[in-house]
Formats: sequence, C-alpha cells, structure tokens
Amino acid sequence: MEISLEGKRAFISGAANGIGRATAVSMHKLGAEVMICDIDEENFSSFENDIKTFVCDVSDSSVVDQMFDQISEVGLDILVNNAGIAGPTKLVENITDQEWRECMAVCIDSQFYCTRRAVPIFKQQQQGVIINLISGAGIMGYPTRSPYVAAKWAVTGLTKSLAMELGPDNIRVNGIVPGNVSGDRVERVIYAHAEAENLEPETVRKMYKIGTSMQCFVEPEEIAEMICFLSSDYGKHISGQIVGIDGNTETLYPRSLIS
Ligand SMILES: NC(=O)c1ccc[n+]([C@@H]2O[C@H](COP(=O)([O-])OP(=O)(O)OC[C@H]3O[C@@H](n4cnc5c(N)ncnc54)[C@H](O)[C@@H]3O)[C@@H](O)[C@H]2O)c1
Repeated sequence: MEISLEGKRAFISGAANGIGRATAVSMHKLGAEVMICDIDEENFSSFENDIKTFVCDVSDSSVVDQMFDQISEVGLDILVNNAGIAGPTKLVENITDQEWRECMAVCIDSQFYCTRRAVPIFKQQQQGVIINLISGAGIMGYPTRSPYVAAKWAVTGLTKSLAMELGPDNIRVNGIVPGNVSGDRVERVIYAHAEAENLEPETVRKMYKIGTSMQCFVEPEEIAEMICFLSSDYGKHISGQIVGIDGNTETLYPRSLIS
C-alpha cells in the first residue's frame, strides 16, 4: 500500500511547529500542494519553497476570511484544523475571563472559522476532507484544564455533527486524538501541571505515561501519518470517526499518583 496525495491541495493551521509541521512535511512528501498558517513565522523559512505560508491568527475571523480569499484561488481538498493552545492549568475558580476566552478562541472558534470557509469550496466540487485535532481532553475529563477540555469536547461535537451534515456532499470529517506527543508543547504542559499541583515534573511525566495502556509518548510524525492516511483515497469511506494515536489513553489524571 502506497499513500499518495498527488493532485490534492491541503491547508493546515498552526503548522510552524509540532504536529502541524510534521503533517505539512509528510503531505508535501506525498505529493500534495501544501498551504499552512501560523502566528509564529520564525520557522517558515525552513519549509520547502513551494509550501505556501500565511501569517494568520486563526482565532480572528476577519484575518481567517482574508487568508481564505487567497486559499480559494488555489483551491482546496483537505483542511486540517490543527492550531491549538493548552490554556491555563488552574483550578476553575482561579481562571480569568481572558484565559477562558483565549483558549476557546484558539481551540474551537478557529476550527469553525476555517471550516465555514472550506465547506462551500468542498460542496461545489462534491468532495473534501476535514481533519480536526482533538485530544484525550476531548473524550474524557481532565481536572485543572477545564477551558481546554471544554473546547476539545466542542471539537468532538463539531466533528460528529459535521460528518452527518456534510456526508451527503461527499465531505468527510474525522477527529484525531493525539496521545502525549513528545516535544516542547508537552514539556510546557508538564511543567505547568507540576507547578499547579505542587508536584515534581518527573511525577507528572510518569503520570502521563501511566495513564496510557501502552505507557508511551508518541511522535508528531505518527500523528501526521494517520492524518495523511485519512486524507488519502484509502480513507474514502472513513468519516465521523475519532481516531486515537495514543497507546490507548485510559485516564488523563491517575489520581493515586497525585494524592
Ligand atoms: N502535543 C500533544 O501532546 C497534544 C495532545 C493532544 C492534542 N494536541 C492537539 O494537537 C494540536 C497541535 O498541537 P502541537 O502539539 O503540535 O502544539 P504546538 O504548540 O507544538 O503547535 C501548535 C502551533 O499552533 C500555533 N498557534 C497557536 N495559536 C495560534 C493561532 N491563534 N493562530 C495560528 N496558529 C496558532 C503555534 O504557534 C504552534 O506553531 C493542537 O490542537 C493540540 O491541542 C496536542
């Protein structure tokens, strides 16, 4: 089996780093015409020249609209709603309005803004693929991360609903649940968690591993490969699914390790 994305045009949000970056690189290798955006333009120069980059804050609908005016001229077959932030790690009573709103804006509003611009393009051509990045926090509870959890459960709901709404137009919508992905982001999350609960970072790292059946972290490239598979013709009848690449997360909060 050889996956090809030849002839497909893909857009990935938040692709300067991490999972988005790995996805852009993989899709490009498989022959797709790749467009990406991020607020962090520092890494843009390290991409292949024919990857089109946009500086865009996807939590701002007017900026997203301007970017999609340009994307529409290229055309689009695959939308990967990837941009996300961890939000605060705090007890609910200590979360500010701004922290709550920012997390919602980046993690869920952005997916709506990009999706509503991609869907008319997909409907017109009667085909399209939408992949939404969720999290274990979008399928189970996670104390001290309530804004992120609320936003990611919203992404799960959006994914399930849009798969039903758009299926008749041959538009597929799937969600991805990455496990603890090795890299900067998870390190930031581990340190924030350790500080919030007065724990050693090593205890939190162990806690994250022990919460998965396979007691593992995963690599961004593993997530990228699944996104490429689902985007390809091998996934032509896969829709409405929430796919974990996570060693099977049993819990995000093994309480016995904390108390
Ligand atoms: N890393 C993990 O362990 C993990 C686990 C579960 C889910 N996820 C989800 O996977 C997705 C990617 O995460 P990652 O680990 O690659 O994170 P990351 O922090 O490495 O990369 C996220 C990228 O999004 C960009 N970004 C942030 N806010 C933006 C905005 N307003 N507009 C445009 N770009 C913005 C950042 O600059 C960054 O380049 C996120 O939706 C995240 O919630 C990650």
